[in-house]
Amino acid sequence: MKIKISVLKDRAMAALATVADEAGLKNWHQQYLGRKGQLISLFDELKNLAAADKRLAGPLLNDLKKHLNRFYHEKERAILGRADSAILDATIPGLAPSLGHLHPITQIRWAVEDIFRSMGFTVHEGPEIENDYYNFEALNIPADHPARESMDTFWLKDKDAHGRPLLLRTHTSATQARLLANHQPPIRAIVPGKCFRHEATDASHEHTFYQIEGLVVDRDISIANLSDTLRAFLSVLFNADVKIRLRPGYFPFVEPGFELDFQCVICRGQGCSVCKRTGWVELIPCGMVHPKVFAHAGYKKDAFTGFAFAMGLDRVAMMKYGIDDIRYFHAGDLRFLEQF
Ligand code: DAH
Repeated sequence: MKIKISVLKDRAMAALATVADEAGLKNWHQQYLGRKGQLISLFDELKNLAAADKRLAGPLLNDLKKHLNRFYHEKERAILGRADSAILDATIPGLAPSLGHLHPITQIRWAVEDIFRSMGFTVHEGPEIENDYYNFEALNIPADHPARESMDTFWLKDKDAHGRPLLLRTHTSATQARLLANHQPPIRAIVPGKCFRHEATDASHEHTFYQIEGLVVDRDISIANLSDTLRAFLSVLFNADVKIRLRPGYFPFVEPGFELDFQCVICRGQGCSVCKRTGWVELIPCGMVHPKVFAHAGYKKDAFTGFAFAMGLDRVAMMKYGIDDIRYFHAGDLRFLEQF
């Protein structure tokens, strides 16, 4: 039976390929798919089979039927469509082309960049393949520092031209270190970019994610400048008068370091599922540039002060659009992406 099905399939498809007009199409249909056609007669033979064979052959025949019908209709469209096009009806609505659009992360990235540009910041990019020095050493994270363990790193086999180990940058702070080393203050810069961590994924962790780093360096930059800049930024981003608070946080490259929370813009601090009933959302780790980081970049002691901060763009997008799983962003599922 299996052989018969496959022979019929080949024969029917070969015959269909030679069909060139409406009469031929009708003829073909009668022969293969019609009430007295060859497919029906194979279905008839089913009843003579043993139960086990029937169970095998039934689905195969159904598949063949679907297959032949599909190609029959395709052919029908090709032949009849040709006839139709002889009469041109200019009033038939055209097929609307589906337009692409920007990925939600790109939209957020551009919105964040615009806000910082309007505050006089410049936008920089840095390499995704980074060396150990800029990703760690220059940020006061030497080889034996426990902070390295919190950033599971994708190491590359190769080393750079100076023999330094290479890695996929674990944070955009690496580019902060590059900016410090290569630019003269005053610096007001942000660095958007992709970062990578060798960790298991869950609803709030991805191995590949986006950060935006910020760096401001000048004379007499203070914590007040830091908090006011970030409050102004968040107020524009969320289109509300956003309240913020700074809690102590530890990061080797800033001193003092903070976790910046802002009052939940969804429930206005009352407590909801987005802020986990606390009324506050933790969003921006930040702090004052550490003297050792200045020293690594070749600055004279106490010549300048500055602040740095970073935020996960994916997290900002989740907050802004109320998305509860970070993995949607890179899954490439159009049902998700088309909503933005
Ligand atoms: N680079 C840190 C991370 O990815 C985040 C961070 C903390 C960046 C404090 C900063 C900062 O600029 O000041 O975990």
